[in-house]
Amino acid sequence: MNFEILDTKLKDIKADCEIVLVINKDLTHRWIKDAKTLTKLGFKGEGDDVAYLADKNMVYAVADSLESDDIRCAISSALQAIKKSSYESVKVGLYTKNCPPINARALAEGILLGTYCFDKYKSEKNPSSLKTVKISTEDYNGKSYSVDSTQKAVDEAVIIAEATNSAKEIVNTAPKEMTPQILADYAQKMSDEIDGLECFVGDEKFLEKEKMGAFLAVSRASSEKPRLIHLSYKPKDAKNRFVFVGKGLTYDSGGLSLKPSEHMVTMKSDKSGAAAAINIIKAAALLKLPFEVHSIIGAAENMIGGNAYKPDDVLIARSGKSIEVRNTDAEGRLVLVDCLDFAQDLKPDYLVDLATLTGACVVAVGEYTVGIMGNDEELKNSMQISATKSGELSGTLPFNKYLRKLLKSSVADISNISNSRYGGALTAGIFLDNFIGDDFKDKWLHLDIAGPAYVEKPWGYNQYGASGAGVRMCTYWMKDFDYKENNMHKDEK
Ligand code: BES
Ligand code: ZN
Ligand code: ZN
Repeated sequence: MNFEILDTKLKDIKADCEIVLVINKDLTHRWIKDAKTLTKLGFKGEGDDVAYLADKNMVYAVADSLESDDIRCAISSALQAIKKSSYESVKVGLYTKNCPPINARALAEGILLGTYCFDKYKSEKNPSSLKTVKISTEDYNGKSYSVDSTQKAVDEAVIIAEATNSAKEIVNTAPKEMTPQILADYAQKMSDEIDGLECFVGDEKFLEKEKMGAFLAVSRASSEKPRLIHLSYKPKDAKNRFVFVGKGLTYDSGGLSLKPSEHMVTMKSDKSGAAAAINIIKAAALLKLPFEVHSIIGAAENMIGGNAYKPDDVLIARSGKSIEVRNTDAEGRLVLVDCLDFAQDLKPDYLVDLATLTGACVVAVGEYTVGIMGNDEELKNSMQISATKSGELSGTLPFNKYLRKLLKSSVADISNISNSRYGGALTAGIFLDNFIGDDFKDKWLHLDIAGPAYVEKPWGYNQYGASGAGVRMCTYWMKDFDYKENNMHKDEK
C-alpha cells in the first residue's frame, strides 16, 4: 500500500473514493456531504454502521470517539465495505484528538491491519485493487498539520503494522510448513535482509551442550528437530538491553497427555509467542530504536511416540532445577524456562516472554485480552498502558504467595502443573518465575497471549485466525520507553 501525505484540503484531493468517519454520531460535520441520504438509509452513526454510497464514491463509517483504536476500527470497516470495488485510490482526512501525528498513525495501522488477508491456501485469490491511500493533513477539527510529522507517524505505523501482519502470516501457516527448522530459516533470512540484525540458530547438539533438559524432552518425540533461535540487534550506544523470549511450539498435540481433538485444532497457533518475538525485533531494527534487543525463540513440536517424554519423568532444566512432569501438555513452560535461563545470561535490563501458555488465561480474561504477569506492579502497568495505546487489550494478573505453594512436588524441586484447578494462568506464570534469578525478578514480564493470538472469528480490525498478538504492545512499549525517568506516555493516550 502506498501512503501519500498531502498538504491539500480533503475536498481538493483527487481519488477514486472518499472515506469519511462519523465521529460520535455527528452528522453535521463539514465533511459529511450526504447527511440526508444517510438518514434515509437508517445510518445513525452508531454501532457498526457503515454506508457505502457507490454512485457517489463515498464511504461513511463510525468511530465512537477520536481515540486511536476507534479510528483504527472505523477506517478498517470502511475499507471492508469497499473490498470488492475496483478503486485504486482512496482519500481521507486526519482525525486528531490532541497530538498531531497520533491519528495519522492510527489511520495507517487500521488500514494495513484491517486489509490483511490470509489466502495462501485458497485457489481463488481476490487481491484488492486498492493501491494508494491519500491522507490530507487537514484535520477533522479544522486545523492543518505538517506533512513531516504526519509522514513520520505513518512511516512508523507502516513498520509496526507490517511486522504485526508478518506475525499473523507465520502463525496462520500450516504446521507442516512452519516447522522449527523452517521457522529458523525464516528468522535467518529476515536477519540477512534487515540492516543491524543478526541470527544464531542452535540445533539439538547445542541444546545438549547447554544442558537444556526441559526443552529437549518436549521435542523428543517429534521427527522435526528443535531449534533455539537467537536474533540480536545491537545499535551503537544502545541505552538499554531488552530481551524477548517466545514460545515457538510449531505444533502442540499435548504429547502423551494428548489433547482431545476439538482442543487440538488451532494448535498451529502455539508458535504465536515466537512469531511475536521475531517481529518485535524486526520492528525495533526498522524503527532504529536506540536499544539493544534480543529475541530468543524456543522452537519445537510437542508430539507422541515411543520416545516421548512422559508424565512421571523428572527433567533437569538448564538452571539445574529438577522438574516432575505430571502433564506433557504443560510443555510451553518447559521450553520457556530453558530459554529464559539462557536469556538471563545476556544480563537484560528488561526481560519479556510471550507465550500462548494457558487455556486458563483465556478463561480468566476472555479471548481478546493478553494476561500481563510479573513481580513489579509499575512495570506491569507500563506494559498495560503501552498495550492500550497500541490497540491491544490487556489486563494485569496478580501473583500471590498461596498460589506459589501449588507447584510443590514430592519427588522433584517443582511440578510442571499446579495441584489446584484454579488460577492456572497465574500458576503457569509462577512456574516461570521459579526460573527467574533474583537480579531479574523485577525486570521480567510474562505475557500470556493464548486468548488473542488466534481467534476463530473476525473481531474489530482483526481477521479470522492470527492477530499478531504482542507485536504492537511490545514495540510501542519499547518505543516510548523512558520508564526509569517516569515520564512514559506523556504525549499520547
Ligand atoms: N498451548 C496450550 C495453551 C493454549 C490453550 C493456547 C488454548 C491457546 C489456546 C498449552 O501448552 C497447554 O496445553 N496448556 C494446558 C496446561 C495444563 C495442562 C496445566 C492448558 O491450558 O490446558
Ligand atoms: Zn500444551
Ligand atoms: Zn502449548
